[in-house]
Parts: sequence; C-alpha cells; structure tokens
Amino acid sequence: MVTHDIAVIPGDGIGKEVVPVSLDLLNVLADIHGGITFQFTEYPWGCDYHLAHGQMMPKNGMEQLKQHEQIFLGAVGDQNLVPDHISLWGLLIKIRRECEQVINLRPVKYLEGVSSPLANPNDFDFMVVRENSEGEYSEIGGTMHSGPDEVAVQNAIFTRKAVERTIRYACALAEERNQKVTSATKSNGIVYSMPFWDKILAEVGEDYPKVEKQSQHIDALSAFLVTKPSSFDVIVGSNLFGDILTDIGAAIMGSIGIAPAANINLDGKYPSMFEPVHGSAPDIAGKGIANPIGQLWSAKMMLDHIDYPELASLLFDAMANTIASGIKTPDLGGKHSTEEVVDEIHKRLLANA
Ligand code: NAI
Ligand code: MG
Repeated sequence: MVTHDIAVIPGDGIGKEVVPVSLDLLNVLADIHGGITFQFTEYPWGCDYHLAHGQMMPKNGMEQLKQHEQIFLGAVGDQNLVPDHISLWGLLIKIRRECEQVINLRPVKYLEGVSSPLANPNDFDFMVVRENSEGEYSEIGGTMHSGPDEVAVQNAIFTRKAVERTIRYACALAEERNQKVTSATKSNGIVYSMPFWDKILAEVGEDYPKVEKQSQHIDALSAFLVTKPSSFDVIVGSNLFGDILTDIGAAIMGSIGIAPAANINLDGKYPSMFEPVHGSAPDIAGKGIANPIGQLWSAKMMLDHIDYPELASLLFDAMANTIASGIKTPDLGGKHSTEEVVDEIHKRLLANA
C-alpha cells in the first residue's frame, strides 16, 4: 500500500465547503485503486486564524507544509476580517514563493453543458504554462521625486534559468499532447527581454523536434484566444502574459467556479500546490451552492501530477458527464446544490470504476 501525504488548507469561505467534499471523493478514488491511501493533514489557516493569532499561519507554518508531499488548497480571503493584501501575501503567495512553485499550470477546456460566452466555442482544449517566479512581477525598482517630477521604475527580470525551464516544461507537455507550443512574445515592442525569450524558445525547441513551435505577439494571441481557441494545444508565457491569458481562458470556459490550477515545484524539493482559480466567494459562502468542479478539477491535476492518470481520467469523466447531464450549480445556470453535484459524481465514479 502506497500512502500519499497531503497537506490540506481549506482556507476561507467556500474553500471550507468544496475542499471536504473533494477529499471524500479522493478517498473514494483511492479505494477504487486499491493500492493507495491518502493521508490528509488539515491546517485551519486563513482569516479566522488571523483573527485569533494575528497571522495567517504559525511561524513554523512553512516548515510544516514543506514536510508534505503535496498541498491541496481551497481559497483564501475574507475582506471583512483581514485586508486582502495581508491574507494573500501571508499565505498563498508565501507558499508559492517559499515552496519554489515556479510554474503555474492551467487547463482551459470546453465542457459540454457549460455555456461559454463565445458564440462558437468549438470544443477548445489547451493548457497555459505560466512562468511563476519572476518576469514582470519583480520587486526591483523604485520611485523618486514627487509632484510633477514623480517617477516610478519597475524592472522586469528574465533569467535564462527560469525562461528555459518554463519553455522546456511547455515543450515536454506538448509532446504528451498534440505536439504544438504557442509562445507569447512581444519582441516588436519589448526589445530586450522578449527577443531573449524567443531565442531560448528556439534553443530549447531543438530538443523537441516533433513539437511545432510558434511565437505569437501577446496582443494577437489574446484575440485568437477569443476568436479561435480550438487552434491551441500548449501556450507558454511570462508571468504577466500568462496571468492575462489564463484569465481569458477561465472566462471562455464559462464560469470561474470550474477553472483549476497547479503551482508546480519542478525539482521535487518542496511540495507542489493544487487550487481552484476562484476565491472564497463570500457572497455565496454558507449557502451550499458553491460549484465544486474547480476544486475537484484541481484534485484531478494532483492525481495526474502524482502519476495516477487513470484515476485522474475517471474523476474528470465523472465530473464532465455530471455537468453534461444537467446536474450543476446555479453559477452554471443549474439548480442543484454542491452536495447533489458531488453525490452524482460519486455515483458515476463507482459505476465506471
Ligand atoms: P471570487 O472568485 O471569490 O468570486 C467572484 C464571483 O464568482 C462571485 O460572485 C462568486 O460567488 C463567484 N464564484 C467564485 N467561485 C465560485 C464557485 N466555486 N461556485 C459558484 N460561484 C463562484 O472572487 P472575489 O469575490 O473577487 O474575491 C473574494 C475573496 O477571495 C477575496 O478576499 C479575494 O482576495 C479572495 N481570492 C482568493 C483567491 C485564491 O485563494 N486563490 C483567488 C481570488 C480571490
Ligand atoms: Mg489573474
């Protein structure tokens, strides 16, 4: 029997609703497999914890987390209790940075039964690989003077190491999928870092001869995501470009309640973290109507990451078929509760195992 040691942080708001039901289904999947168990260690960190202790996690919180194999997180934030910048930087961003989760991975896929805002969505299915450690989101820069002379300088940081590993990750992913990488650039306007990025794409690309590599300027690429999303397989971009593209991705999927994400630690030194794209949704928290799909899809990504592709597919198909059958929460235009959706997925897991 193989035991997987998972740290669980439900967090705030609907995180406390969609995380427990996801753990239940992960246990069902472990039973179906027969050879694995999950050992979940739950950490009650978040805004309630901050109210009681004056911080989002204990002083040795990171040390505790780093001992686990993976981290499964719900959502963090409750502006009525703690300002957002404190809750975000005190927990979520702290984990991403200190666990060196240098790649952010987000699937964007059309699901039957979800109405995309696109008139003609045409069955899109692609992955966005975002550089998650540097680029435009750097703390290097400063401000000086005031009044009409006020100046702000913000430096974007592009290192060979980070660009290379990001592009390599995207190419390797494309090899397992449909052999195509589209790289976001802007070498016509950003004349140092983007040609550097493009050069590394060409170099790394040589190691992946079967993968078709294409560079596209970020402005045109953003437009194509809306006009012909089905033409993409893997998209790779810098921190800022990836951030924007993934939000467009979540939008064309039809609801923020279904989009998942993985923050990947590449060398296995620290855990990776799996979390939905959505936040704590205070407007619907406690009503039992939170869409569990974003959290469950994140669990599916965790299963893929720890190398149980069959269990991952089983979970994905049960989820997708549940939605397609019309059993869905109000954010997708349905009338079902979180529990009803989860029960249906559970039934389908058992039926298809
Ligand atoms: P949000 O994603 O929590 O909610 C935006 C809208 O989408 C709301 O109307 C909400 O009801 C709906 N929604 C989100 N997830 C849903 C789900 N699973 N099922 C059904 N409806 C869903 O974003 P918002 O309102 O901007 O932020 C609320 C709090 O969450 C803030 O404190 C924010 O800082 C935090 N946040 C945390 C994130 C994280 O932990 N990764 C990401 C985004 C926001
Ligand atoms: Mg964003």
